[in-house]
Amino acid sequence: MSEAKKPLLHVENLKQYFKISRTFTTKAVDGISFDIYEGETYGLVGESGSGKSTTGRSIIRLYDPTDGKIIFDGRDISKKLSKEDASYLRTNMQMIFQDPMACLNPRKKVKEIIAQGLEIHHVCSSQKEVDEKVYAILEKVGLSKEQATRFPSQFSGGQRQRVGIARALVMNPKLVIADECISALDVSIQAQVVNLMKDLQEELGTTYLFIAHDLSMVKYISDRIGIMHLGHIVETGTTDEIFTNPIHPYTKSLLSAIPHPNPIVEKNRVAITYDKEKEGVDYTKGVQHKLTDTHIVLATDEEFARWTK
Ligand SMILES: Nc1ncnc2c1ncn2[C@@H]1O[C@H](COP(=O)(O)OP(=O)(O)OP(=O)(O)O)[C@@H](O)[C@H]1O
Ligand SMILES: [Mg+2]
Repeated sequence: MSEAKKPLLHVENLKQYFKISRTFTTKAVDGISFDIYEGETYGLVGESGSGKSTTGRSIIRLYDPTDGKIIFDGRDISKKLSKEDASYLRTNMQMIFQDPMACLNPRKKVKEIIAQGLEIHHVCSSQKEVDEKVYAILEKVGLSKEQATRFPSQFSGGQRQRVGIARALVMNPKLVIADECISALDVSIQAQVVNLMKDLQEELGTTYLFIAHDLSMVKYISDRIGIMHLGHIVETGTTDEIFTNPIHPYTKSLLSAIPHPNPIVEKNRVAITYDKEKEGVDYTKGVQHKLTDTHIVLATDEEFARWTK
């Protein structure tokens, strides 16, 4: 299905290094490649420090990538941005963050916060049009007109995340990068917010890069998943491929960490541990091995033969 379509986002051998000192560099993202197709959700999963946020921030160009290619909607955005490309990026790619309180200006009313992007980028021709867009998106995320004149501190965590979603979606972006946007919420609220995001995606056709370390929620929202570890995508596939036929030992360990809802099964769940050093895996030596058009594993020939035996 997906190979006939053109990707909305094409990432090729992306590297994002941080020079910590004269002798030390953190390779936060170390040569990752993946595509995201229009209208789909790509889940990026991995433990803390694996480079997920750096990937998102690099793509939206909060950083200058060290190396590699980022093609967004046919435009190369990996090098110095032209004024036109920068403006295209600022309107068509939006980010939703983990902690909305940290990124919502506490002194501004919700209405003003949501309108900000529209105003900065002169998306509307009149104040009336701005107001209309703001009220329309508020309604879509389930907030009332009355709530629009309140301040972020007067909202619950789940409501604030709705404001974050409204602020991103009011721009009618092609791609939304959601970085752990539900991790700080109660589990019941997480499901609500994920459902809201899914509904809005269906209605607006938005594409999502959904970053998380909780595979269970990712399973529910993603069409395809990339498993990230120490700056590398070690395995990628459709959600079904990742859950029913995981190949990489790191993917298996992540899957084995998900608690099972059935207490009898849960009692017998064995968490698989994975130690890269012990197993002697060197990601820089691996190449992309294809199981299907969509299912790809990073491995040496020997590892691939062993893991698929
Ligand atoms: N601005 C920066 N300067 C230096 N090092 C950084 C910077 N940002 C991230 N890193 C390092 O890069 C690595 C990847 O960090 P990143 O935040 O991308 O991980 P993550 O997968 O998002 O983790 P988490 O699940 O905890 O959010 C970490 O070792 C981190 O310390
Ligand atoms: Mg992160």
